[in-house]
Amino acid sequence: MNTQFLERQSSLERQAVALIDLHPVPADLERLAVEGLSRVPKQLPAWFLYDAEGSRLFDAICRQPEYRLTATETALLEQEAVAMAAAIGPGLPIEFGAGSARKVSPLLEALAPAAYVALDISSSHLTAACGTLQARHPATAVLGICCDYSQLQDLPAHPLLEGQRRIGFYPGSSLGNFEPPQARALLAQFARLLGPDGCLLIGIDQPRAVASLEAAYNDRAGYSAAFASNLLVRLNRDLGGSFDPEAFSYRARWQPDQCRIEMALVSQGQQVVRLASQDWTFAPAEALITEYSYKYTPEAFAALAGSAGWRPRQRWSDPAGTFSLHLLEPQP
Ligand code: AVJ
Repeated sequence: MNTQFLERQSSLERQAVALIDLHPVPADLERLAVEGLSRVPKQLPAWFLYDAEGSRLFDAICRQPEYRLTATETALLEQEAVAMAAAIGPGLPIEFGAGSARKVSPLLEALAPAAYVALDISSSHLTAACGTLQARHPATAVLGICCDYSQLQDLPAHPLLEGQRRIGFYPGSSLGNFEPPQARALLAQFARLLGPDGCLLIGIDQPRAVASLEAAYNDRAGYSAAFASNLLVRLNRDLGGSFDPEAFSYRARWQPDQCRIEMALVSQGQQVVRLASQDWTFAPAEALITEYSYKYTPEAFAALAGSAGWRPRQRWSDPAGTFSLHLLEPQP
């Protein structure tokens, strides 16, 4: 047999994806739903939106012309990866909530790291994403860790992690779903996990003209509305709820005082819904908040990051100033 083929085959085998499963404790959906429906106004955790169908609808939102965020961030990463890699320096990239890990490739090409670590709570998403990335970047060893990184004391011991400067990567403006105190706590958690010589590259969506912001969360094709409405389908399926999705209409509105988009399902009339052995009354026009999307100017984000132990090192933004990738380093 051809020895070149054998060598190539063994080098591919050496690059089999490594996976560590820390068995994150599944959340108690029913307790959280009861808690959320008891609040005034009613509000459920944003991650409730992401069952299989919700994840599919979110991917479709990212492709809508009104939702510029994904295309803008992807273009920035592609155009500036070399400059970003130069500013970041050598180390081990660690992606938080890697999902389908579709954004990290330009960075992996520019950094050419020995290893890359993806963290995600879903072992199926993690396995698929790591497999794709490993095939695309054969010279980088891909390690997937299935965990709830917001609860982790430290990364597990693994030879690929030893003695490496840690480079956090948190794209997508996912931080926007958290209210400021929780956002601050998450940034502080990243600081703990990344260590005193680490750094963090984070994507942050910025406030802009209200019409363009509201359109991004209410696309003409209706994916944003379907994404929110699917929450009720999920509550019915997973918790035996009796929601009639048709009896709620979707609303996305900019709230300037909080600098956020509020997304909600608004009850079309007086109605009573059964869930978790309780009756939940909705008044006419009463809202069930499905998620917030906070936007930060570079200055506001620097202040938030500063309160979590970080300081801004460099920033890359699109020419229109709608989105930024911030490189942060720990405060001395
Ligand atoms: C995943 C939080 C970044 O706020 O833009 C998009 C979620 N929801 N459209 C965002 C979302 C509806 C998204 N993040």
